[in-house]
Amino acid sequence: MSLFEATGLTVGVSGSPYPILRDVDFSVEPGEILALVGESGSGKTMAALAVMGLLPHGVTKTAGEVRIDGRNLARPDGSIDRQVGQISMIFQQPVGALNPTMRVGNQVARAIQINQELDRSAALEAAIEMIGYVGIPGPERVAKSYPHQLSGGMCQRIMIAMAVSCRPRLLIADEPTTALDVTVQAQIFELIKSLVAEIGCGVVFITHDLGAVVEMADRVAVMYGGQVMEELHADRLLDGSKHPYTRYLLESIVREVDHRVEDIGVDFTLRGCRFSHRCLLAHSRCNDFPTLEWIAHDHRLSCFAHPLDRS
Ligand SMILES: Nc1ncnc2c1ncn2[C@@H]1O[C@H](COP(=O)(O)OP(=O)(O)OP(=O)(O)O)[C@@H](O)[C@H]1O
Ligand SMILES: [Mg+2]
Repeated sequence: MSLFEATGLTVGVSGSPYPILRDVDFSVEPGEILALVGESGSGKTMAALAVMGLLPHGVTKTAGEVRIDGRNLARPDGSIDRQVGQISMIFQQPVGALNPTMRVGNQVARAIQINQELDRSAALEAAIEMIGYVGIPGPERVAKSYPHQLSGGMCQRIMIAMAVSCRPRLLIADEPTTALDVTVQAQIFELIKSLVAEIGCGVVFITHDLGAVVEMADRVAVMYGGQVMEELHADRLLDGSKHPYTRYLLESIVREVDHRVEDIGVDFTLRGCRFSHRCLLAHSRCNDFPTLEWIAHDHRLSCFAHPLDRS
């Protein structure tokens, strides 16, 4: 049993017969960082929001389960019990995710009060400690600041402080550094890695950046068109990945092109493999839906184009 398991997540938009997530499975062990990668529109954020029970209006989970320690977090009304599961999420735009009219210390204090019964001053004291814990110098002074007075990197650290203040079992980081410059990115990566080692939580780390995957992640799940195409050890990504889409992503880097620029969009109406219209190896079998199957003890693949890997 894994610390965290999402199984069969299927998510649709009202009025459309074509799901934007289809049968998505992934799992995370304690202290493990799982990267979710894939080009824009592949469904990374939707997968995270489905796990959090925070799907936008008009988008609903039609199938699938989310479990922590084997316990199903879905409530009868379809929402997710995050508090029981202790799942926290940090978002791409730290400045926008904070309340602009409230001092950051009070925001962290509120997050702490959700999970611990502390009065205002004790919660503020705990918040200042938390702000120092995520590597912000002068936490007493910073706690009195408003978000617009802080840099993007500082705001992201504040978001991380809020996210880890409840000692989550699972932390979801959705492109946590894309709004930040490169040196700050490296610092945030280090912070996330050290927190994982210390708290022992699992992490779902969403990114476009395959370099960050190799640096940060233990395992990687590659998504396209709302499906998980392949899942394997991050250090096997470069030379061990098999899926034509994964190879395409990696070759995009070698060719020094941004794969987002080449994105011709996902054809959600395809009944079979959603990469088949772009895949050089596609054949008639690819008109069927390929499920994610084990091809080695630590490698799963969703592809009919690899005759050696599928009998
Ligand atoms: N509010 C919404 N209503 C309906 N469809 C949506 C909504 N938000 C996103 N989608 C669709 O869901 C699909 C998956 O989007 P998602 O945001 O999960 O992609 P992503 O992999 O996170 O992309 P990016 O890398 O750009 O963040 C896309 O086709 C997108 O157009
Ligand atoms: Mg996204």
